[in-house]
Amino acid sequence: MPFPERFLEELMERSDIYDVVSGYVRLTKRGSNYFGLCPFHNEKTPSFSVNQDKQIYKCFGCGKGGSVVNFIMEVENLSYPDAIHFLANKAGMTVPEDDGDNRLPNLRKRLLSLNKDAARFYYSLLGENEGAVARTYLEKRKISHKTATRFGVGCVPNEWDRLTRAMKKLGYTDYELVEAGLAVKNNKGSVYDKFRDRLMFPVIDVRGEVLGFSGRTLSDAEPKYLNSPETPVFSKRRTLFGINLAKNTKRSSIILCEGNIDVVMLHQAGFDNAVASMGTSLTVEQTRLLSRYTSEIDICYDNDPAGIKATDRAIEILKNSEFKVKVIRLPDKIEDGKKIKIDADDYIKQFGADAFEKLISGSDDRVEYALVNLQGKFDISSDEGRVEYLKAAGELIATLGSPVEREVYGGRVAAAVGISAEAMKLEIDRTRKRKIGQQRKKMEKEALSPVSALQPKARALRYDNVRSAAAEEGVIRLLIRDPEIIEACDIDTDEFSSPILGKIYSIIRAKLNEGKAPQISLFSEYLTEDEMSLLVRIDEKPESVSGSREALKDYISVIRTEKLKDSTDLLALAEKYKKTKGMEDKNVE
Ligand code: UTP
Ligand code: MN
Repeated sequence: MPFPERFLEELMERSDIYDVVSGYVRLTKRGSNYFGLCPFHNEKTPSFSVNQDKQIYKCFGCGKGGSVVNFIMEVENLSYPDAIHFLANKAGMTVPEDDGDNRLPNLRKRLLSLNKDAARFYYSLLGENEGAVARTYLEKRKISHKTATRFGVGCVPNEWDRLTRAMKKLGYTDYELVEAGLAVKNNKGSVYDKFRDRLMFPVIDVRGEVLGFSGRTLSDAEPKYLNSPETPVFSKRRTLFGINLAKNTKRSSIILCEGNIDVVMLHQAGFDNAVASMGTSLTVEQTRLLSRYTSEIDICYDNDPAGIKATDRAIEILKNSEFKVKVIRLPDKIEDGKKIKIDADDYIKQFGADAFEKLISGSDDRVEYALVNLQGKFDISSDEGRVEYLKAAGELIATLGSPVEREVYGGRVAAAVGISAEAMKLEIDRTRKRKIGQQRKKMEKEALSPVSALQPKARALRYDNVRSAAAEEGVIRLLIRDPEIIEACDIDTDEFSSPILGKIYSIIRAKLNEGKAPQISLFSEYLTEDEMSLLVRIDEKPESVSGSREALKDYISVIRTEKLKDSTDLLALAEKYKKTKGMEDKNVE
């Protein structure tokens, strides 16, 4: 056990789940629980609940649940020991040192410090003689000295160990350099720089920590941009380039673009609300980060097929969120009869900041964008194409929740193809009715299939024997509610059919043996996030404690009967196998 138990208990006492969670989620009291919008998935109505008595949280939407430690692990993207350190820090407690598992938080600290030193080093090189190529490049891209400094842009010449040498002088080890993703090990075991001959953009988080780097080649080497790999401090899907600056913007929205240089150029042109998702499409984690600073997102991806696809994906992610989403459509540029790509950087350079401002204020909302996109797929000059477009548009508009929205967009589509608004409305209403019917059927079907409802959400935890697992869950629930019945509980862990339920059972037993209550908020230490979510789900199912001894007996007998059934099934299977085998043998003879 990495942390002394006494320490953990005190830490849990000082880290009230309501206090901690309300730092991230606005909670309101409803009944005996608190509710808020789930920070782990996008939603408009609160399905995230906090139970202060049990010191656990649970989302009825996405199924995540656990203790205050799990919450911090998930929301701050930390490992278990890191989350403990994080909470200890918050509670003003010092973590008792021991060497084993405490290495990780220390490693994180070391890597952050190494990254900062590396950023300083790259930045200093930009001012030296050997930074000349990079300085010329910045000039060519019209990035001013001031802007480059604001972003901490640096560079590194084409050498094998420029950074490695400098960082080792500062006392960093090969191991740390490799863990930070700044160096690579060759097959002889020595390390060399990962980033060479590149313009270096540090990726900085909202607290000002340097998490990683994105390096643009100064030659025509591939890849054009090299990013830090995933490290203990850098996770691409949880980061946004430029968020350290954009979080302070006075503008109401955040502009989301594709590339680092787009961000830099937009900031230089006065759009200090730009961030980039660094070559990936937007992730839920990134929207969560954004939601701390804004409720409006303007998507400004490139206007090439990849950018349009990324826009669609971002809209899909944001569809169920509270964000007001707009799409900034950069105009097509035709050269020699061919469409060429335009990004925010190109646009600003060609048309200036004022033009971009106009583009933002006039930009399409996401429904309009989707409709225009859709229209492009049909030939609306033919009757046939028009009918098909109307049907497809009807499908799309029918999914809108608000009747006003349906009317407005329906009217617009009708006008675009020259039919009456009434006819369009009829089409939309019919489609909507059909969709609602389908939805209801689907839900009824799900409700009628208790087997799927009983299964854990996480695939890896699926039960082989659902009947037995239900009884095993029952045993666990009873022991949590009424620990005293342990004396009547004569079932062994290996009689459990589900490994995870067996594991939970053995933890409960161990706690009870030590004379402790099996409080589920203390289980995070032994269980993964998925396993914790499952435990919270098991605990919340109804279970009466009156007559708990009887109930326990019943559960145990179900488990044993099912086990017997399983083994007789196995025997039967073995018999059958022997028979067919025998027949085959005969055939061979
Ligand atoms: P683009 O290829 O659209 O380049 O990559 P760009 O931003 O217009 O590049 P410049 O203007 O030539 O400098 C957009 C973003 O995708 C990521 C980078 O974050 C880049 O800023 N990317 C691109 C990579 O991660 N790797 C690559 O090889 C290319
Ligand atoms: Mn570009």
